[in-house]
Order: sequence, then C-alpha cells, then structure tokens
Amino acid sequence: MADRESLVEKSENEGRDSVGSEADVEEEKLPEVNAPKKKTKTKKKKKKQVEIATTSDSDAAPSLAADSLTERDLNSEQISGVGELLDRLNLETNAPKSIEDARKKNYKFWGTQPVPKLTENTRGKNAPIEHDKSVEEIRAEPLTLPDGFIWDDVDINDANQLTELYTLLNENYVEDDDNMFRFDYSPEFLHWALLPPEWRKDWHVGVRASKSRKLLGFISAIPIRINIYDKIQKMVEINFLCVHKKLRTKRVAPVLIREITRRVNITGLFQAVYTAGVVLPKPVSTCRYWHRSLNPKKLIEVRFSHLSRNMTMQRTIRLYRLPQETKTRGFRELTEADVRNAFTLLQTYLNTFNLSPRFNADEFRHWFLPRKGIINSYVVEQNGKLTDFVSFYTLPSTVMQHPNHKSLKAAYSFYNVSTVTPWVDLMQDALVTAKNMDFDVFNALDLMENKKFLEELKFGVGDGNLQYYLYNWACPEMRPDEVN
Ligand SMILES: CC(C)(COP(=O)(O)OP(=O)(O)OC[C@H]1O[C@@H](n2cnc3c(N)ncnc32)[C@H](O)[C@@H]1OP(=O)(O)O)[C@@H](O)C(=O)NCCC(=O)NCCS
Repeated sequence: MADRESLVEKSENEGRDSVGSEADVEEEKLPEVNAPKKKTKTKKKKKKQVEIATTSDSDAAPSLAADSLTERDLNSEQISGVGELLDRLNLETNAPKSIEDARKKNYKFWGTQPVPKLTENTRGKNAPIEHDKSVEEIRAEPLTLPDGFIWDDVDINDANQLTELYTLLNENYVEDDDNMFRFDYSPEFLHWALLPPEWRKDWHVGVRASKSRKLLGFISAIPIRINIYDKIQKMVEINFLCVHKKLRTKRVAPVLIREITRRVNITGLFQAVYTAGVVLPKPVSTCRYWHRSLNPKKLIEVRFSHLSRNMTMQRTIRLYRLPQETKTRGFRELTEADVRNAFTLLQTYLNTFNLSPRFNADEFRHWFLPRKGIINSYVVEQNGKLTDFVSFYTLPSTVMQHPNHKSLKAAYSFYNVSTVTPWVDLMQDALVTAKNMDFDVFNALDLMENKKFLEELKFGVGDGNLQYYLYNWACPEMRPDEVN
C-alpha cells in the first residue's frame, strides 16, 4: 500500500487537504488504485446522462464510435471540438465520493466484478469470492482495443518511456475537486514504486495511440503479500490508473482494469489491494487524511489552507513553528546496517493489524532505505537497540493556477513504529526533519495509531476519504486503526 494521497485541506480547519461497453468482457478480474481526497464541498455539477454507444464485440473496450475521439483528435493541439463534445455529452460517469451517493449509483462495471456489493453483509467471511481459475479458463490474448489504440508495456528502466509515463501522470493524474492541485510523482519515485522485488514488465500496462505512439492510459500492478485478519494472501497492489483527459468517460478504465486482471490471473494470482478517493463496491476501510502545515504562509497563498478567523498570518506562522532540531536521543537516518533489526521491529508491529503488508527483508530494503527526494526513514537507537521507526515519502503536487507558486512539496507518512519513544515525540521529530528538508506540508492518514498524535501535533483534518479495497475477497469492514 505504498501510496496514499491527499491534495487538499479541509477548509474550516488549519490543516486540510466506455471507451466502450464493458458490460461485455467476461472472465477477467480486476483492480484499481489509489486516489485522493479533496474538498468536501463537492460542487455537484448537474450533468445530463447520455448513453455512450457501445460495441457488440463482447471483449471490446472503448466504444470510440461515432461520437468518439480519433487518434488525430488526441494528438491535435487544438482539440477544440473535443472539450465541447464532452461538455455536450455531459457524461457523468464519475464514481461518487460518499457512501450516500454511492448507494444511489448503478455500478455498470463494478457490478460485474467479484467484489462485495455496497449493501452486502460480509461479517463472518474472510475468503475469496470466486475460486482460482485454471490457465485454460483465463483468456490468453489481451482485451481488444478500438482501432487506433494499442497495448504497449511501459519499460520503466528506459529513460524515455519513464519520462512518457511521468508526463501522462503529471498532466492527467489525480486532482482535487477544485482543480487547483495535481499529483506530480517524480520519475524517480515512479521507478521506485513500480520496480520493487519481483516486479514484472507486463504489469506496467500502457495504452498508446497506434500512429503517434502517444501514451494515453496506464495501470500497474506490483506483487505484495497482505495479512487480512488471520490469513496471509499473496496478491498484487494496483496503482497509477490513469486515462488521458481527452479520453475520459469512454469506459477505458474498465478495460485497463480487466486487462491487468487478466495478466495478473495468468500468473496464478486472483486478489488485489488498491485504494481510491472514490467510493466503489466495497471499501474494507475508510480512512481520512490529516495535514500538518510546515510552511503555512505558502499553503495559504496557494489556497491549500486559509487563515482561520481571528488569526493573522504572523500568529499562524507562530502557531506552526517547530523546533530547529529533533529532540529524541538516538534519532537518526536508517542505514543498510539497520535493515535486519528495523525490518523485525516493523514487521512485528505490522502483524498486530487486521490489514497490513507482509514484507520480506529485500522488500523492506527496497521500500525503506533512504532515497533522496523519494523516501526518508529514521530509527531511534538506544543502548544499541532499535526502539522506534519513522518513514515518509515525497509526493509534490503541481499548483495549477498560481502566478508564483508552481509546486507544493508534501511529505506523506508511510510506516511508523513506537515502542519506547512516545508517539508525539517521535512524530514531532519527523515533522522537524521534514520542515528542515523544506517540505510545505506533512500528511498522514488516521489509520494505525496515528490518532495518538494528530491533534496534539496540530494536524488539521482533511476533507476527503481514502478507501481501501480488496478485489475478489470478502471480509468484515475495519476501523482505520485496524489498518496499516
Ligand atoms: C480514474 C480514471 C482512470 C477513470 O476513467 P474515466 O474515463 O473517468 O472513466 P471510464 O468511463 O473509463 O470508466 C468509468 C468506470 O470506472 C470506475 N472508476 C472511476 N474511478 C475509478 C477508480 N479510481 N478506480 C476504479 N474504478 C474507477 C467508475 O466507477 C466506472 O465504473 P462503474 O460503471 O462500475 O461505476 C480517470 O478519471 C483518471 O485518469 N482520473 C485521474 C487519475 C485518477 O483519479 N486515477 C485513479 C486513482 S485511484
């Protein structure tokens, strides 16, 4: 569960944050990813629903039919007609952000998938929904894309292809509801996130325009073992689902999801874990982001947060001021020599949660050894023993429409363990470290034991949720503090 994101802070609080017919495809399964949370004052733009033409090809994807985009459209700098077209069509296929809205929605795609219905009672269960398939039962060829589009695995080790993926995400990935911020994963971060031990190139699935070869869609899987209550299940984590803005609401996403499901199934895996800011059937847990201002002046200037009533800028800056140095004796950066002990410390702790990853030492090394501008990890060593652990990753957001500020530098709390140092002291040292590295904001979910430090360390509650999902698995829902 490498990624959990949030873009915007709740306003009233100083901390905020087909193509086609897929009714078609038959057997394959599949996942999805991680999204963000945004402002809750979701402006519900009333949009008239228009049915998209669908193809009769049962495994087809996007019905880029009469009213659809052509490859030329997608490559043209002046896609004037397209925006208009989409406006005219007014397609409201967006997944809802709240359970209430979700209950009213008909999930045309997710309703066909092995996931529990939103209303389903999953108490007493902890098992796959569908049995594993034999190789013969799994479709051997990729799903059919419409004319003008091709599947193409993205070679993350190829600098040009990595740049292409970076550009697709930089221009089209998750935004807040007001389109003010968009995640800006660095190429180096993507390399780290997509190439853990046992990664596979055919799980870096791209869709390109066949003539221009422009990358227009992406979805990824990485291997992971997840503990769910008392069971450990090998599966994949799905992430970075993205469809180019000019190809939206055309049912491309279900095709990407079905294709990665097929590719994962072929390797003998039938479950996935993924997170999203939108509500789909059916969350295992719903977590909330909290945000700790490190550079309140900039956060207010870019309207990530705003000045509270009765507060001046000076008082706000004073409120969020931090010590210049960490205070826990023995707090220092994680090194290669710590791997064995730090891994044991973390894994022992993770084992106490109902939903948590099971790393091995190689995976621990990959995910936690510090990498500049990507992942920072620290331990507390006292009398030769590692007692505590803190880690956070770097995920900037592009500030979309500001004359001076172009980027927001955010640190995201990753995995932390406290056995001796009190949570508040440990996490304050993380904040001090992040502040000294010039981060503007430090984000954390309310999962694990995070509620023990969030308010005291002046995190403000965000205004969006992050849902955790399991594909092809039914189990009882969990509170955020049961999730890691
Ligand atoms: C998410 C995204 C790929 C969906 O594509 P789209 O063009 O908007 O939607 P499509 O017409 O292709 O597909 C709609 C289906 O995808 C589902 N869907 C939407 N967002 C989803 C998500 N994040 N995860 C899984 N399924 C999602 C919808 O619920 C709908 O299925 P339904 O009929 O069962 O409700 C696209 O909006 C996008 O790239 N957004 C920016 C990046 C992003 O948010 N990525 C997901 C991060 S979790």
